[in-house]
Amino acid sequence: MQFKLSDEHDMLRKTVREFALKEVAPTASERDEDERFDRAIFDKMAELGLAGIPWPENYGGIGMDYLGYVIAVEELSRVCASTGVTLSAHTSLASWPLYKFGNEEQKQKFLKPLALGEKIGAYGLTEPGSGSDAGAMKTTAKREGDHYVLNGTKIFTTNGGEAEIYIVIAMTDPTSKHKGSSAFIVEKGTPGFTFGKKEKKLGIRSSPTLELSFDECQIPKENLLGEEGEGFKIAMMTLDGGRNGIAAQAVGIAQGALDAATAYAKERKQFGKPIGLHQGVGFKLADMATKVEAARLLTYQAAWLESEGLPYGKASAMSKLFAGDTAMEVTTEAVQVFGGYGYTKDYPVERYMRDAKITQIYEGTNEIQRLVISRFLLKD
Ligand code: CAA
Repeated sequence: MQFKLSDEHDMLRKTVREFALKEVAPTASERDEDERFDRAIFDKMAELGLAGIPWPENYGGIGMDYLGYVIAVEELSRVCASTGVTLSAHTSLASWPLYKFGNEEQKQKFLKPLALGEKIGAYGLTEPGSGSDAGAMKTTAKREGDHYVLNGTKIFTTNGGEAEIYIVIAMTDPTSKHKGSSAFIVEKGTPGFTFGKKEKKLGIRSSPTLELSFDECQIPKENLLGEEGEGFKIAMMTLDGGRNGIAAQAVGIAQGALDAATAYAKERKQFGKPIGLHQGVGFKLADMATKVEAARLLTYQAAWLESEGLPYGKASAMSKLFAGDTAMEVTTEAVQVFGGYGYTKDYPVERYMRDAKITQIYEGTNEIQRLVISRFLLKD
């Protein structure tokens, strides 16, 4: 057993940390306030190879693994959770299904520009009437000659509007639930594909979350991903890995809040000494640090399992569940350590607390993670 990261992983962490501090952190608070996505940050991430960390070089990637990818999401989220989820949705939700289920032509045409960061990816599964019950989707895709015609609405799409390539799950046979759905690659600019409401959110405010609308939207039959009827399976398998990307985001948010709280506890004096030396605060920091470390280990383990080609669905659901709950708890405690100042926008911990909440909700609520884990246990 080996708990030390390889030199390559250490180097990647160092590179992403430096980048995050120099290019992402300075505008994080202002982008949050203005709900502004900054494409230039993504472009700079692409220059470092971060847009395609786990993919082979012939598909535009840098040929690392899923551990490298979660380390990058963690380090970005440590200063800006919105930037972390941009990379997570791009990699796990859009690029992964193309890598796993795409044919060679689709990989060259769609995966490569994503991995190179020339384009951004997004994923459309959730609909107004189907969130946790993802199989109840209503969007349809009807085969007509050389095309599929899409009709329906997807909501809560991370990277929506900014992304050029969308993986969209739709019903090709509305009479049968899970086996009646298929996955499609839809390009921005396709006639009949438009963007609707942009959500105004509590947190991750500089990550765009949009509604996608399909009205008689014709896409070439070559854009079917995998086989007809495989849509639900592809969607679920995509989320298996995606959830660990969210776990990494949660670890990063929690670590960022812990860093801020620890620094403040050393510098802020009350009753004649730094507040960290009062047991009420010192013990809080100890509990926070322990939970962050446990969440990190679960997350790295799930990434390692996936990189090794071993089953990782249960591990991923566990990492997302534990890291999401940890992020919420640790960021709330960080605000408490800062007291009244923590409740203001003069310090970043209120943003971390707002950002943390979504990690318990998206890519399957933590209640759904418990359902997934319990099904594994009962099946075993
Ligand atoms: N891998 C492969 N196949 C899977 C699978 C997986 N992880 N999970 C289910 N399946 C297969 C099953 O084997 C089954 O296949 P058969 O019919 O051949 O037996 C089929 O799919 C149906 O499975 P279930 O009966 O388990 O399906 P269900 O309707 O009970 O749903 C669920 C299961 C876990 C609750 C699922 O609906 C789910 O994950 N819901 C949450 C959805 C979600 O996470 N949404 C987030 C969207 S993305 C997002 O958040 C936005 C963003 O941009 C970040």
